[in-house]
Amino acid sequence: MKQYTSLNDIKNLNTLVKKAIQLKNDPFQYSHLGKNKTLIMLFFNASLRTRLSTEKAAKNLGMEVSILNINATWNIEFEEGTIMDLNTSEHIKEAAQVISHYGDILAIRAFPSLTDKEKDTTEWVLQSLQKYASIPIVNMESATDHPLQALADAITLEEHNTVQKPKVVLSWAPHPKALPHSVPNAFVHLMHRMSNNIDFVITHPKGYELDTTVTKNASIVYNQEEALKNADFVYTKNWSSFSDYGKILPIDTNWTITQEKLGNARFMHCLPIRRNVVAEDAVLDGNNSLVIAQANNRTYAAQAVLQEILLGLVKT
Ligand code: CP
Repeated sequence: MKQYTSLNDIKNLNTLVKKAIQLKNDPFQYSHLGKNKTLIMLFFNASLRTRLSTEKAAKNLGMEVSILNINATWNIEFEEGTIMDLNTSEHIKEAAQVISHYGDILAIRAFPSLTDKEKDTTEWVLQSLQKYASIPIVNMESATDHPLQALADAITLEEHNTVQKPKVVLSWAPHPKALPHSVPNAFVHLMHRMSNNIDFVITHPKGYELDTTVTKNASIVYNQEEALKNADFVYTKNWSSFSDYGKILPIDTNWTITQEKLGNARFMHCLPIRRNVVAEDAVLDGNNSLVIAQANNRTYAAQAVLQEILLGLVKT
């Protein structure tokens, strides 16, 4: 069964990026492919971009779309890994099998919110649905990964890069809330996959290390000014240190991206963003900002993935 739960599940990254760029010129080219097929989207968390872009992608392919917003309690008191709250006590074991009869592809957004109690339950919703569902699964953001965002970022880099080996910097961003590591992890995965063509640097304050299994072999520079020197692309994202997980953090404006720090580099962020905390207005609104282009590319990233799954379903 085809799964898209991490960038590792995308074997043909370059081909998929090129396919996605082609789709922008002719989004309805494969509108017959999804006929009589249904995408079911489960949202345990709010979303603007992922929800609308994935729905649009599915509709461009001719699919029906059903969306469930789930009032997640992340309640693990019953039996670990098996309860989700659909306003009733619905167990994932049955829910996943039932959903597999109603839909052809299941897309899930599920990451824990911000309390200490929840930090140990990070990936159980995704993993339990994966275990019990019998249809392909797409990760629309979990606690540790956001592959559709990374694919959209790959498309954006491909479209906007003008130099042979660009320097790309992932810079930790100040934010009062500690959030999951999904986007930075996914971006680091992407950079590893593109490592032959990219000079990649991560910069963050000491104590804010990402999972070392993700960052192994990455160049980490604790001095932001030094890291940003000669950058072609600067990607910002907040992430927590594990000891800060769930706390309201003080804002460290020393890490805010200013126009002066950005220089001539292009600015990237997955959105939503806290203006004048993560980056100042001049950066977000400036000519070097790629944030809207990234958001636009979410549709074609999702469409390329759904299209590949549908082609697989036709073959089987
Ligand atoms: N970037 C992103 O995933 O946005 P949403 O949270 O709005 O889906």
